[in-house]
Amino acid sequence: MRTGAERLEEDANRGHPRRSRTLLCREVRGEWCQGVTEGAAASAGDAERATYTASTMLDLAGKAALVTGGGRRLGAVIAQALAAAGVHVAVHHRSSADEALEVVRAIARAGGRAVTVAADLARGDEARALPGRAADALGAARLDVLVNNASVFRATPLEEVTEADWDAMMDVNLKAPFLCALAAARLMGETGGVIINLVDASVETPWPSYVPYQVSKAGLHALTGYLARALAPRVRVNGVAPGPILPAEGTGEAADARAIARVPLKRWGDPQDVADAVLYLARAPYVTGVVIPVDGGRRLG
Ligand SMILES: NC(=O)c1ccc[n+]([C@@H]2O[C@H](COP(=O)([O-])OP(=O)(O)OC[C@H]3O[C@@H](n4cnc5c(N)ncnc54)[C@H](OP(=O)(O)O)[C@@H]3O)[C@@H](O)[C@H]2O)c1
Repeated sequence: MRTGAERLEEDANRGHPRRSRTLLCREVRGEWCQGVTEGAAASAGDAERATYTASTMLDLAGKAALVTGGGRRLGAVIAQALAAAGVHVAVHHRSSADEALEVVRAIARAGGRAVTVAADLARGDEARALPGRAADALGAARLDVLVNNASVFRATPLEEVTEADWDAMMDVNLKAPFLCALAAARLMGETGGVIINLVDASVETPWPSYVPYQVSKAGLHALTGYLARALAPRVRVNGVAPGPILPAEGTGEAADARAIARVPLKRWGDPQDVADAVLYLARAPYVTGVVIPVDGGRRLG
């Protein structure tokens, strides 16, 4: 069997040095790393580029972000995590003005920069205008990061569900992220940016009492891929699909315990787990069109 170095040299001689290196990297990583060192002198001379020297992760310091529904719960943690990475954050809210202001104050106390911005995302005109208003409030000429986090979640058993329930969930959970994404993508300009949608790991398992919610989130999951394709290469579009992270308000302990019984990792996740996935997707320059489940394995059944 050929060694990594031999395969590298052979492929380089065929005129595809970089392609062969990538392949070898996947196939026999340890052997290939050795091969690069040896092959560098023998062939292309650009082996440094194929050797791990420094992370390609983007530096987010000074970037401008909008986090919808950033006043409370997961959105508040995502906003603070971005701010801790040096991002200037517009913390959007609808009803939770006081909570959003408290998030802004916490960011300022930690040395970061943030502002609040209000909008009702059930309204198309407000959703379309929000990214521009967020950039203005930050004093930024552009937007670099959009996190579509705001959401309506409530049980809607089929014998009780109304057309208004359906519309509320489609408007806030699916149409608003779409309209915000289009407006944000324009503000990302030539240099581009990243959009991150908060989806839901549960969309892979039908819940009979949550059909409109799950359909809206399944739509958002699909939209993530479609927009990633449509907005490439300028704008990356990704998603995070949380599982049980924070119980919905008003659920009882028995329901919470049942939820966790079905999670392979046997515990609730932490909002920071979700924020870490958002940060990864914001920083990863070669990742688009993916949705990362952060669900303790819940989707595995
Ligand atoms: N919590 C979990 O364990 C979990 C699990 C799976 C998926 N997720 C997803 O992760 C995201 C965050 O979850 P969460 O539990 O923190 O969310 P949440 O508390 O259910 O909602 C987040 C925010 O959405 C905003 N919102 C609702 N309707 C709005 C409207 N018409 N206009 C503007 N904003 C509106 C609310 O802002 P105001 O308070 O300012 O009105 C609310 O605070 C959501 O997209 C959710 O679907 C969460």
